[in-house]
Amino acid sequence: MSVDAAQLELLADFEPTPLTGANAGLVETFQSRESSYAEEVERYLKRQALLESEQGVSKTTLFVSRARGFVGAYATLSATSIPTVGQTSTVLREVLRTEKAFVGAVMIDWVGVSDEVRRTGLRLGERRVLPWLKAEVVAVNRHAAAPLIRLDVSVGNWRAYRTYVIRWNFKALPVMARDGRPRPAPNPDLPAPPPEFDNRTYVKMFLDIYAT
Ligand SMILES: CC(C)(COP(=O)(O)OP(=O)(O)OC[C@H]1O[C@@H](n2cnc3c(N)ncnc32)[C@H](O)[C@@H]1OP(=O)(O)O)[C@@H](O)C(=O)NCCC(=O)NCCS
Repeated sequence: MSVDAAQLELLADFEPTPLTGANAGLVETFQSRESSYAEEVERYLKRQALLESEQGVSKTTLFVSRARGFVGAYATLSATSIPTVGQTSTVLREVLRTEKAFVGAVMIDWVGVSDEVRRTGLRLGERRVLPWLKAEVVAVNRHAAAPLIRLDVSVGNWRAYRTYVIRWNFKALPVMARDGRPRPAPNPDLPAPPPEFDNRTYVKMFLDIYAT
C-alpha cells in the first residue's frame, strides 16, 4: 500500500529525539496498552529507559510529534552480535558467507508505537522508525562493521512477529521447539503461532542493511 502526501506529512512530523534528563517528562505522553506485550513496552519507557540511557547500557530515541508534543513511538538500541554457530544460528553463517563466529549488530532492545498512532494505520514503526534506524546503522558501519539489525520477539507476540517478517523484512532464524529441537521459524502467514512452539520462546531475527 503506497503512502499518500497527507501520511508523508504526518510521518515527517515525528522528530527522532534522544531521551535525556531534560526531556524525560515526555515519556508520560506515551500510551501502549493494547496487549500485555504493549504494556511492557510502555512500562519500560516510563520506568527504565532513562536510567539505562544514563548508565550507558542502552540508548532510547523518542519520536516526538512537533505539532502536538507527544511521543508517537520510541526505540531503545544497544550494540550486540549474533552467533553464526550453534543449533539455531548456522543459517546466518550460510546467508552471510562468513567464517566469523559472531557478526556485529545493532540490537533493538525495545520498540513501540503508541496505541493512538497505531489505530490511525500510519505504520509509524515501519515507515519512520525503521528507515531512521537503517540510516543510523549505516553511519555506525563507516568505522565498525555491524551490518545487522537484531530483534528478538516472543512467539506469543504473534502480531508483532508477523509485522517484522512481512512488513519490516526481517529474517527469522530457526527456533527451539517444545521438544528441544530447532525448527524453521514459524510461517508468519499463519493466523496464530503453531503449537510446537512455547509462546515464551524468543525468535531471533535479523535484517542485513546491505541486502535491503
Ligand atoms: C510491533 C510494532 C512496533 C509495529 O509497528 P508498525 O510497523 O507501525 O505497525 P502497526 O502496529 O501499525 O501495524 C502492524 C499490524 O498490526 C495490525 N494492528 C495494529 N494495531 C491493531 C489492533 N489494535 N488490532 C488488530 N490489529 C492491529 C495492523 O493493522 C497491521 O497489520 P497488517 O500488517 O496486516 O496491516 C507496533 O505494532 C507496536 O508497538 N506493538 C505493540 C508493542 C510491541 O509489541 N512491541 C514489540 C516488542 S518486540
